[in-house]
Amino acid sequence: MKLPEGLISTLRNANKALVLTGAGMSAESGVPTFRDAQSGMWEKFKPEDLATPQAFRNNPQLVWDWYADRRNNIRGVRPHAGHAALVELEQYFDSLLLVTQNVDSLHQQAGSSDVVELHGNIMRSICSETGQVIDEQWIKSNPGRPPASPHHRHGLARPGVVWFGEELPAGAMNRAMAEAYNCDVCFSIGTSTLVQPAASLPFIALEAGAVVIEINPVPTSLSSIARFSLQATAAQALTAIAADMTRHK
Ligand code: OAD
Repeated sequence: MKLPEGLISTLRNANKALVLTGAGMSAESGVPTFRDAQSGMWEKFKPEDLATPQAFRNNPQLVWDWYADRRNNIRGVRPHAGHAALVELEQYFDSLLLVTQNVDSLHQQAGSSDVVELHGNIMRSICSETGQVIDEQWIKSNPGRPPASPHHRHGLARPGVVWFGEELPAGAMNRAMAEAYNCDVCFSIGTSTLVQPAASLPFIALEAGAVVIEINPVPTSLSSIARFSLQATAAQALTAIAADMTRHK
């Protein structure tokens, strides 16, 4: 794809990069997004029935089973060329912090070196009472959907993800915010920029003077104010950027 004039020279002159990714980043690997018409998960399911502490209290088995299905799907997917391009881009900056709302570890699998998970990780299980991580072996060898927690006598195992109404992991958002204030360029990739506080990051970066680059096939509230708004998929846009950066080395 043809990139907008000035994008590559802007990236060449930048030292600190912040990359925010959302569900659209994983779409080309075969992980469904949440809000896309037809294919989005929140088109078929209600978040309040599945992704809140209340939902888990009301029906732990329903919630556990739904996450078990998602885990199974994620076990079978692999990073795509866009994930690899993000790893390649690291060499052009003094620092590149990758802040993701995704819980599927695809950035880590691709080899990104500095990843902050704002919404946790779906492969991890934690105690519903204490938040302590529960060993995978315990989950496998104990009955129940979900199994009881080894850390608390009233606790159950639950997915290690952030639910609506819950705090983000301590430190994760602080680190992301500090980078948003500090970065020269901020990418916002495959996110509807609707869910706070993650959605605020590109807007903070913009206010603080960074060049904001959005990659999303569908316009969002960020599109008209971002310096560069690429209406393309993550794989298309990121591979084009990485290729042009190599050419202009
Ligand atoms: P959404 O489902 O809200 O948005 C996905 C975005 O990706 C949309 O704007 C799509 O247009 C875009 N998109 C689709 N395919 C794409 C592709 N191939 N390349 C690039 N972009 C593409 O997902 P998020 O913004 O990540 O939270 O949602 C944020 C949070 O809401 C999630 O982390 C999750 C959800 O409820 C929790 O579970 C706490």
